[in-house]
Amino acid sequence: MTCKKLSIAIIGGTGDLGSGLALRWAKAGYPIIIGSRSKAAAEEAAKKLAKISGGQVTGDENSLAAASAGLVVLTVPFSNHEPMLNIIKDGVHGKILIDVTVPLAPPKVMRVKLPVGGSAAKETQDFLGDEVRVVSAFQNIAADLLHDLTATIECEVLVCGNNKDARAEVVELAKSAGMTAWHAGPIDNSAAAEALTSLLIFINKNGPVTHAGIRVTGDPKS
Ligand SMILES: NC(=O)c1ccc[n+]([C@@H]2O[C@H](COP(=O)([O-])OP(=O)(O)OC[C@H]3O[C@@H](n4cnc5c(N)ncnc54)[C@H](OP(=O)(O)O)[C@@H]3O)[C@@H](O)[C@H]2O)c1
Repeated sequence: MTCKKLSIAIIGGTGDLGSGLALRWAKAGYPIIIGSRSKAAAEEAAKKLAKISGGQVTGDENSLAAASAGLVVLTVPFSNHEPMLNIIKDGVHGKILIDVTVPLAPPKVMRVKLPVGGSAAKETQDFLGDEVRVVSAFQNIAADLLHDLTATIECEVLVCGNNKDARAEVVELAKSAGMTAWHAGPIDNSAAAEALTSLLIFINKNGPVTHAGIRVTGDPKS
């Protein structure tokens, strides 16, 4: 028996991170809906991603993409975070929303600056209410690694959210896209994952490596 996979809408999926996630999940067999402010731009991006991944990728305007998917991923710059939540709020009701947002404050992107609400993902959860299971993830993954389907992604994914089952679903989604992911606690903990990105950008700029990432170490429990 074949098990039908959940459809995933990627809001801002024409961009760097969203299209990278789309590519990897489409390749893994998830039906993807690319969201954009422009339906035409979404359809054009979807066509390219379908060709590269060999998967099922369609495109639509952001609010319609959110409404038609089983799970929604928010991948727009922090400056558009709250306006975009307003646009998709009806469509995400009752669903899991993955928030990848890093609340960077250009031009000082190497300096941690968290928003007044604690973190971008905490603000998302507070804005949408308990009917939406907000899970934060992927803030520490570089978009170009996602786009290189031959790349082994060594940076691990911290997954934060108040609902354990929703977190587990996102851990599985990260695995299906080729990454190791960890349950990292409630949505309040997203502040740490979001803040880490500025440190990684600093290390990339000033250290001897590119694509700096994080990895959880430890001894197996008996
Ligand atoms: N890039 C990375 O390596 C990376 C890594 C980890 C986390 N992130 C996070 O992922 C999110 C997306 O990053 P990105 O680099 O993919 O961003 P991006 O390419 O700059 O933008 C993503 C998409 O957001 C939409 N957008 C841009 N301006 C908008 C506006 N004023 N109103 C509504 N939508 C707008 C655009 O889609 P349309 O024009 O088609 O509407 C754009 O393609 C950010 O929050 C970032 O912090 C990025």
